[in-house]
Amino acid sequence: METLQKRIEEASSLDALEKIRVEIFGKKGLLAAEFAKLKDVPGPEKKAFAEGLNHQKSALQEIFDDTLKVLKSAALEKQLISESIDVSLYGNLREKGALHPVAQTMDKIIDYFVSLNFSVESGPLIEDDFHNFEALNLPKYHPARDMQDTFYFADGGLLRTHTSPTQIRTMLKGKPPIRMIAPGAVFRRDYDLTHTPMFHQVEGLVVEEKGKVSFANLKAILTDFLHHMFGEVEVRFRPSFFPFTEPSAEVDISCIFCKGSGCRVCSHTGWLEVLGSGVVDPNVFKAVGYEDVSGYAFGLGVERFAMLMHEIPDLRSLFEGDIRLLEQFR
Ligand code: DAH
Repeated sequence: METLQKRIEEASSLDALEKIRVEIFGKKGLLAAEFAKLKDVPGPEKKAFAEGLNHQKSALQEIFDDTLKVLKSAALEKQLISESIDVSLYGNLREKGALHPVAQTMDKIIDYFVSLNFSVESGPLIEDDFHNFEALNLPKYHPARDMQDTFYFADGGLLRTHTSPTQIRTMLKGKPPIRMIAPGAVFRRDYDLTHTPMFHQVEGLVVEEKGKVSFANLKAILTDFLHHMFGEVEVRFRPSFFPFTEPSAEVDISCIFCKGSGCRVCSHTGWLEVLGSGVVDPNVFKAVGYEDVSGYAFGLGVERFAMLMHEIPDLRSLFEGDIRLLEQFR
């Protein structure tokens, strides 16, 4: 009896105690075996024998219950400790994300024109020959089509090579006056330090009643825009050619790296080319059925702006998703 009591009290865990319970109180346990002996006990002694056993049984049961309580509360304690949460600990500090430098540059460009009440238009990336070329005064077999190496689909569709087709779509769906920009991705078969097959442009177009806008307005707005983007730089308009504008000009800023004295980035010219622009060619208006209007247009490469603003030497690095580069733009 005492050894049984001791074994119960010394059970080290709930599992161990359960084993002892089966051993002592179970159907085939020690107590059951003792009670089985009752039938062999002579009649007059039966009562005392049974009472003795019952007494022992309830004494053991009491000790068992006490031990069970102690072990249970110890187990609970242990669980509470292991599952406790230290609310004073630091959480997993999350890295803060940031907009991609191209998106940041795009936003800065869009902000400027939206503040002047330009609408922001968009068009499809998969274009047709009419919107990407024909309506922009680039007829089939025109040599100027070679200026833009095009990805074609088998059905004659193509990936737009510039955002200029959005000019055409906006003019076709609306009517003058128009003040719009069209930001978005464009595609060309090009890949080197300063070219990637996909990049972003922002196109701009202003159309007014004939005589209301001229090259002078174009010069004023683009000069102000370039100051917004690059700070105090000099701006120069250089005669150029685009099929969709006449006259056309490329726009340069004084080199932001050498301040115009000549360096590797500006190829020792002191100037950086940043925009194409011009007065809308009458053939473009004819293609969309506009009469008695004048307008000007411009187009720029967003990655080029981002590279210059942030001194990024290799355009391709903007698209490699290297977190070490992107982290610098938080
Ligand atoms: N579409 C031209 C390009 O991708 C950029 C451009 C130049 C747009 C002159 C214009 C413009 O609207 O007037 O190279």
